[in-house]
Order: sequence, then structure tokens, then C-alpha cells
Amino acid sequence: MTVKLDHTIIWCRDKHVSAGFLADMLGRPAPIPFLHFLVVDMDNGVSIDFMEKEGPVAAQHYAFLVDDEGFDSTLGRIRARGVGHWADPARTRPGEINHYGGGRGVYFADPDGHLLEAITRSYPRERRSAPDPAAGGAPSSVLNRSDQKL
Ligand SMILES: [Fe+2]
Repeated sequence: MTVKLDHTIIWCRDKHVSAGFLADMLGRPAPIPFLHFLVVDMDNGVSIDFMEKEGPVAAQHYAFLVDDEGFDSTLGRIRARGVGHWADPARTRPGEINHYGGGRGVYFADPDGHLLEAITRSYPRERRSAPDPAAGGAPSSVLNRSDQKL
């Protein structure tokens, strides 16, 4: 059996604003209407489906793996549009990027406060899967937030 993420929903106040923001920042094609969603497609077949809701939107975190050229263009758009960005999810290093794992990464917020992340290297797999007896068998990276990754 194989399992792959197919789609997820991002709750928002205005799907045109939010889907347009993501597509613009990541250099994606214009969002596509589907049912009551506005959809932004990723290159690996995953779709990000924006759906509007009334009231407050609980902020979530979404990370996007981009190539070096994509990172340059995304960061360029972030800066050109005056979007706040940080090197860390705690937002203590404004205007910076990080170099976790030898790649580059940046955090920025979407119009509803979802914390978006563009990275050029995925988090090391071994850190996520190695059981840590001291952590009750959970991967140590799940519980170790010393590097402030999210
Ligand atoms: Fe992350």
C-alpha cells in the first residue's frame, strides 16, 4: 500500500485574497475554482484548497519545498511586496533567512496569519524517524525544539 497526501484545506476569510497570495508568492498558476474551493496546485500533485469561513481563522503552518531558483523568486516577491518575513518560526529574526540543513528557508505570514515556509531542503528524514527511548519512543525531533523549526 502506498499513501500520498492528495489535498488539504486552508481555512481563510477571503479565498480570492488568500489563494491569490499563495499563488503569487510561490509563482504558481492562478488558482482554479473547484466546488466551493479555490485551488492552488503543487508540482507533486498535492492541491491546496482554500475555503472561506466566518469568524476567526486558526493559524496553521504550511511548508513548501522549492528549488533554488524558486526560492530566489519567492524571496524577491516577498521583499518587493513588503511582506514580513523571518528566519525562524518564532519570528525573532525579521528580514532574515535561515540555512537549516545547508539549504535556505524563510517564514512569512499569509493574509489570515497562517505561517508559510519556503525551504530548499526538506528536513532530514533520519531526524524525524529515529525513535528516541528517552522521549518514550517518539522521534527526538518531534520533541526537540531547540532549533526552533516548526
Ligand atoms: Fe516547517
